[in-house]
Amino acid sequence: MTLGSSTFQVPVVAVGCMRIDSLDAAEAERFVKGSVDLGANFFDHADVYGGGRCEEIFADAIGMSPAVREQILLQSKVGIRTGSFDFSKEHILESVDGILRRLRTDHLDVLLLHRPDALVEPEEVAEAFDQLETQGKVKHFGVSNQNPTQIELLRRWVKQPLVANQLQLSITNATMITAGVNVNMLGGSSVDRDGGVLDYCRLNDITIQPWSPFQYGFFEGVFLGSDKFPELNKVIDEVAARYDVSQTTMAIAWLLRHPARMQPVTGTTKLERLTECVAGGDVSITREEWYAIYLAAGNTLP
Ligand SMILES: NC(=O)c1ccc[n+]([C@@H]2O[C@H](COP(=O)([O-])OP(=O)(O)OC[C@H]3O[C@@H](n4cnc5c(N)ncnc54)[C@H](OP(=O)(O)O)[C@@H]3O)[C@@H](O)[C@H]2O)c1
Repeated sequence: MTLGSSTFQVPVVAVGCMRIDSLDAAEAERFVKGSVDLGANFFDHADVYGGGRCEEIFADAIGMSPAVREQILLQSKVGIRTGSFDFSKEHILESVDGILRRLRTDHLDVLLLHRPDALVEPEEVAEAFDQLETQGKVKHFGVSNQNPTQIELLRRWVKQPLVANQLQLSITNATMITAGVNVNMLGGSSVDRDGGVLDYCRLNDITIQPWSPFQYGFFEGVFLGSDKFPELNKVIDEVAARYDVSQTTMAIAWLLRHPARMQPVTGTTKLERLTECVAGGDVSITREEWYAIYLAAGNTLP
């Protein structure tokens, strides 16, 4: 698939590196090199993951060198500080330099602004992006956790296309979908929490990257196998059995069945699980199966 309106080719599943600081050096090497062997060579980072350690662990584990760099695609994020968010030009520029130093590379394929800064000055963001592009330090730009108006505000000044918007989305965290299905109804499912970001991104060729595709709540746990979601697990098992795939594969296949052409960002640190996630790209479930899983999670239709 391509990212956003660009011609930049990426795998359908991005490998999130937020949790790799739980691995020892040998495990990290097996995981990241194994990911590349699987074809999952697009890695999602952020300067704040492990306080910067995740990027260092990654560079060591992959054995970063110019030749290795050519085989992988790197995305990272900036803008989160302790106790504040910061999209100032100075902070964006110095954060990218820190990321490049820790990843031991001279460029990022994609840079995302991590979480909306209440004090954002889009002119400054534009200056930072121009400088990073001119210096060759960043090839593509995007955002994370932003609604349509926030993106429009940036787009008034930023001249590079914003190719991705990374947002929380899983079968059990599907408010961006449920609000659209339940438009104008009285119940809570109709509450629009994101300004219609799903359709906005489709209309503007911005790839949605669902983060935490297996979590319920805010990192509360994994819904697969959880006794909090008996009906969902039953239905996922039934549909997964039909395609002879695992639950994990089915959860990714559900996201990929959405025509918005999303790129889920997984968080597993296990190569075996990542293999199952990647397999989700080869399964195309029916409309009926998609809705059965949607409903089994407690999502509603009017
Ligand atoms: N933009 C943002 O604001 C934002 C926020 C959060 C995360 N992210 C990105 O999104 C990525 C994914 O987030 P996440 O780690 O919360 O996602 P996730 O894939 O929903 O959760 C992964 C966690 O669930 C565990 N797990 C247990 N059973 C699993 C199963 N059957 N299938 C898959 N995982 C299972 C994994 O353990 P094992 O390691 O043992 O498999 C791992 O600890 C992060 O790495 C980061 O890159 C972005």
